[in-house]
Amino acid sequence: MTHKHILVLPGDGIGREIVAEAMKILDWLGSRPGIQWTIEEGLIGGSAYDATGVPLPEETVNRARKADAVLLGAVGGPKWDRLDFSLRPERGLLGIRKALDLYCNLRPAQVFAQLIDASPLKREIVEGIDVMVVRELSSGIYFGEPRGIETLADGRRRGFNTLSYTTDEIERVARRAFEAARKRKNKLCSVDKANVLETTGLWREVVSELGRRDYPDVTLSHMYVDNAAMQLLRNPRQFDCIVTTNLFGDILSDEASMLTGSIGMLPSASLGDHNALYEPIHGSAPDIAGKGIANPLATLLSVAMMLRHSLELPKEADRIERAVNHVLDQGLRTADIMQPGAREVGTVAMGDAVMKALQEEV
Ligand code: IPM
Ligand code: MG
Repeated sequence: MTHKHILVLPGDGIGREIVAEAMKILDWLGSRPGIQWTIEEGLIGGSAYDATGVPLPEETVNRARKADAVLLGAVGGPKWDRLDFSLRPERGLLGIRKALDLYCNLRPAQVFAQLIDASPLKREIVEGIDVMVVRELSSGIYFGEPRGIETLADGRRRGFNTLSYTTDEIERVARRAFEAARKRKNKLCSVDKANVLETTGLWREVVSELGRRDYPDVTLSHMYVDNAAMQLLRNPRQFDCIVTTNLFGDILSDEASMLTGSIGMLPSASLGDHNALYEPIHGSAPDIAGKGIANPLATLLSVAMMLRHSLELPKEADRIERAVNHVLDQGLRTADIMQPGAREVGTVAMGDAVMKALQEEV
């Protein structure tokens, strides 16, 4: 096999702790026959700002462009909240998504049978949930210009952002979503606010046209985002694949994650035509950073997505997912998914347990 390059960006808060667990597994896998990779570490977010004065150093972007895959922990924290918007840690994350043109964000929300009772919703509602949220990631209101805060002649201040999508931006992410749906139950729900926002009226048109033209075999439906937020709680099993804008996808994927018990369990893949970045969908959780209690499983599951989508190692991806299932079967839980009768463990013990399960080929 060819030699691969992985760039690891731990970031801020719990980022470093959870990525350390992923590194153990990557190092171990890398020592096995048939697998060869080089892993480098880079700076992003608040820690990059502290070290270099910007949340996304040029060097990080250059190295990310050359890497076969990027693994990211998390960015942000109260320490940097008072910085100008352009220097905030979050800008580092948005910046790398834009620089690598990572327009397609896959956020699978699957309920682990062992964690059903950790969901705030009733078992009957969440049992069997398996939703793939495809979020547009490099355009929309998070990037639209003009943006800013201005002072009006009368002294009032006005904040403004721009929601904008071109037809090609809509079509390319929709195409990825139709393809994802084909590998699943062949059902795609496109979420918009076409009754109010022209941009998402165009979104609906483009998605419908693409479906008619190239994916007549996929059952396409449309839903307004407010209704989708409600339906996700009322009857989440009606969804298979969802495709939506950057902002709506940000919100709906957090909502979908809670159905599965904990946001600490959900991985993601951010894909472009040339690069890919993998990260847990939870943030930097500054309130628990440094305490050794963060759940590393979303990061380990992100590693599995990376092995599958970027490193041509689908069997190893399956193995990691099986190992995660195994430690949950054993009753090991981090604080965020703790249940009566289970054994509470910290970040390192959870990572070690997954590693042990992997080594024992469960
Ligand atoms: C996410 C996060 C980011 C986003 C933040 C940290 C910029 O919430 O990945 O969902 O809004 O996209
Ligand atoms: Mg988010």
